[in-house]
Amino acid sequence: MNAVPNGQAEADMGEGWIRAAAAEDLIEGEGYESDVEIDGGSIALFLVDGTIYGLGSCTHEGGPLGQGALRGHTVVCPWHSARFDVKTGACLDGPSACRVDGSVGAEEGETTERLEPCTVLETRQLDGAIYVRRRTP
Ligand code: FES
Repeated sequence: MNAVPNGQAEADMGEGWIRAAAAEDLIEGEGYESDVEIDGGSIALFLVDGTIYGLGSCTHEGGPLGQGALRGHTVVCPWHSARFDVKTGACLDGPSACRVDGSVGAEEGETTERLEPCTVLETRQLDGAIYVRRRTP
């Protein structure tokens, strides 16, 4: 997270920033699913060790990662249990309900597909609000 000094005009933040939450909405060690979208996708926020991370929706079927269980820097999608690194967006484990060929119903221990990484969002805190935008390369 990049902190912006209090009182700095929102306009000074640059283009593409969207107000996604109030700072008080975030709880250390938990996810938060914003009620606004970015480019038609959901916004998930995570507060881990005082740092705010942002991700888009799950790359499997668009699950709301902000509603998933957070363990350290890893979030589990609430829909089919794919795991993502909230720092990098990397998929650590594919959805437990899908086989590599995309069919449903993987058995325990069966290899699951590895998904594309989630969209990583830049985050900023300004005057009690959390803003996000797509990370620029
Ligand atoms: S939608 Fe996230 S694992 Fe299926």
